[in-house]
Amino acid sequence: MKFLGSKAETIDAGDIYVNWRKIVLHPILDYHVWAHCKWKTIRKEKKLISESQDSLIHDTCLSFFGWCGKYITFILNPFQFQLVTKNHKQLSFQMFSTKLSAKVFSVKMLPTNQELNSEIHTCYKYLQGKSLDILFETMAQNLKHIFESEFFKTRNWDTVQMLTFCTSVIFEVTFTTLHGKLLVADRKKFISELRDDLMKFDDQFPYLASDIPTVLLRRAISLQKKLIKCFTQENLAKMQGWSEVIQMRQDILEKYYEPDDSEIGAHYSAFLWASTANTIPTMFWAMYYLLRHPEAMAAMRDEIDHLLQSTGQKKGSEFFINFTREQLDSLVYLESIILEVLRLCSFSTTFRYVEEDLALPVESGDCRLRKGDLVAIFPPVLHHDPEIFEAPEEFRYDRFVEDGKKKTTFFKRGKKLKHCIMPFGSGISKCPGRFFAVSEVKQLLFALVTYFDLEIIDDKPVEMSYRRMLFGVQYPKSDVLFRYKVKS
Ligand code: HEM
Repeated sequence: MKFLGSKAETIDAGDIYVNWRKIVLHPILDYHVWAHCKWKTIRKEKKLISESQDSLIHDTCLSFFGWCGKYITFILNPFQFQLVTKNHKQLSFQMFSTKLSAKVFSVKMLPTNQELNSEIHTCYKYLQGKSLDILFETMAQNLKHIFESEFFKTRNWDTVQMLTFCTSVIFEVTFTTLHGKLLVADRKKFISELRDDLMKFDDQFPYLASDIPTVLLRRAISLQKKLIKCFTQENLAKMQGWSEVIQMRQDILEKYYEPDDSEIGAHYSAFLWASTANTIPTMFWAMYYLLRHPEAMAAMRDEIDHLLQSTGQKKGSEFFINFTREQLDSLVYLESIILEVLRLCSFSTTFRYVEEDLALPVESGDCRLRKGDLVAIFPPVLHHDPEIFEAPEEFRYDRFVEDGKKKTTFFKRGKKLKHCIMPFGSGISKCPGRFFAVSEVKQLLFALVTYFDLEIIDDKPVEMSYRRMLFGVQYPKSDVLFRYKVKS
């Protein structure tokens, strides 16, 4: 088996970049990518690699992504990440993402239709600025509705599973904020079935993203089809009051597809997955850490009380969040808690497809890339770097606060980093829903802390499952019980 050019091979693993053969030497990648990978073949082959034999791991691992027989070069030096994200001409995001969308969501037209692809990207402006302010208001209304109808009914303690709780609330708030009200006889049933199917589908995501033949993925494919069917023309007509982003996406899709084309449903299910699959575990971990760290809870309560006082508001028994996005964004501990959760729990990768043979000018020479291979940034290398973040495996609620203000400056080797955390990817493919997601988690945390007494019941620490390694925020290995009571 051949490897990259000789220069690429001689560069030290922990230093600047590695290819797959050497990646096993990196403590974080070694531990997370291989040790948690469920595939037995990979575990076995890891042994071969540590004994420095030429490996099958390139193929095996890359077939995990469906890029069988290709190399992935990881740029590990954060000062050189821009070599990957700034070179749009030779390093293409589209080639990678459209192929993934075709496999995972069955969106087949994207890889061949550049126009559709770029038109869809124009919709994302409706997830920012003034449009985001509108979404923020709608979100607050939807949250109010859920809390009043479900959690304000009793004044006694109620015990629930935390992940189940977060999944249910985040899914419903996101779905209704983006897609509007559902005009169906049993609205709750429709939403809970769609949510459960999406969660089962998410569980199958890594298999769909792989090169495993679809005949062996019957369960995953049937879930994929079931989701697509939820977004038939008939069902879409029952969703009223679409957000601007959904309306514009629909207008574009109508230009490219016949109204009854099932691929429209594939686009909808892809967007639904993107809008919920990472926010749910982010909310879980934020709640989990908050409840396990009384000092974090106290700091957050304190800054919320401050905001209530300074805006002349009182906590009444009626649920109401009367704040602007700007006001919530001014809560530095709330923001720091969310950033710390994303630093610890997000494990996504920024991939680019190498369009032509290329030499990246890294510090120690040229990093040679071969046409058709992949180059990647794996932000957890940055997130867990002890040189940047002291005790990187610890949750520190105030890590991103300094002198009462947001801390944005972090250093490595005495040099200031451009980005200290990258949970939303970077460059052209940076997550367009990042402001929406953070606003949503902020609103829900704010509401929980303001209106409820909360206690974690299970005391044992919960681990991450690493099942969605490279694809986003990790889910917990098991659920955890907590109880809540409306504040008297
Ligand atoms: C905490 C929550 C979230 C996290 C951690 C997250 C993270 C990411 C990441 C890492 C990417 C890929 C970036 C890359 O390849 O470089 C991405 C893409 C994307 N995200 Fe998010 N995301 C979150 C929430 C959301 C929400 C709420 C929405 C929609 C409202 C959304 C919509 C999208 C879309 C549409 C893409 C694909 C963009 C493209 O094709 O260029 N995400 N997200």
